[in-house]
Amino acid sequence: MRIPYIAANWKMNMIANTGLLPEQEYADAIIATLTGLGDTPAEVSVFCPYTHLTLMGEMSENQFNVGAQNMSGTPCGAYTGDVNADILQDVGIDHVLLGHSECRKYHNETDSQITQKLGVAMNRGMYAVVCIGETDAQNQAGHTYDVLQNQLRVALDNDVSPERLVIAYEPLWAIGTGRLPRTDDISDIHTHIRTFLGDTYGMDFSDTVRIIYGGSVTADNASEILALSDVDGVLVGGASLHSDTFCQILSAVGT
Ligand code: PGA
Repeated sequence: MRIPYIAANWKMNMIANTGLLPEQEYADAIIATLTGLGDTPAEVSVFCPYTHLTLMGEMSENQFNVGAQNMSGTPCGAYTGDVNADILQDVGIDHVLLGHSECRKYHNETDSQITQKLGVAMNRGMYAVVCIGETDAQNQAGHTYDVLQNQLRVALDNDVSPERLVIAYEPLWAIGTGRLPRTDDISDIHTHIRTFLGDTYGMDFSDTVRIIYGGSVTADNASEILALSDVDGVLVGGASLHSDTFCQILSAVGT
């Protein structure tokens, strides 16, 4: 059984400055929501800025995962501004988001760098969420499946443990725009990704790996998205910046 996976991506933001310790409130709200789900299992990951990793790690009380939004794929050395797996694991962080479209766009990250990073994550026993997604133009031209398959083929050119991998399908044109694909399309694309994974890496792999949707997920649309076949969770950007909306999305797992 694939446990629903609900992830927050704070991006380059801090949690709303509404309390003395908003991070504590955020962590407490997740823990309370998970408790409220009772027997319904759910796995939560919070991908926060590097500076918040240790604090959020402590506040998570091991009830949810705390992860980095990216990492370097190279060993320690003269790479100013970068953070690699050694540094993350040194502070107890084993979860990482890889290949987010904003990293691909603003840091010119290539598919082969994502392959390298995922290889490091897998070798180090880490857990990775790998983002894939097509642009608006690629979508309009009917190239979505080809783009996704290519991204997957390159990223998964590694010895990958399906238990430690989550694939996030995030159409670039849906990120931060409020424009969602039709629910039928989300469902079809997820099923297509799973079929491709089964054909390429075997049924055990495709039955185990979780495929989640990201792009303009809100408290209002989460239930509908989470109910779709082959959708194993959601990756939430803007709506994860407030604990109340993020926890409403998490609660939708149980509906
Ligand atoms: P969004 O971002 O929920 O604000 O659209 C999603 C993401 O970029 O992961």
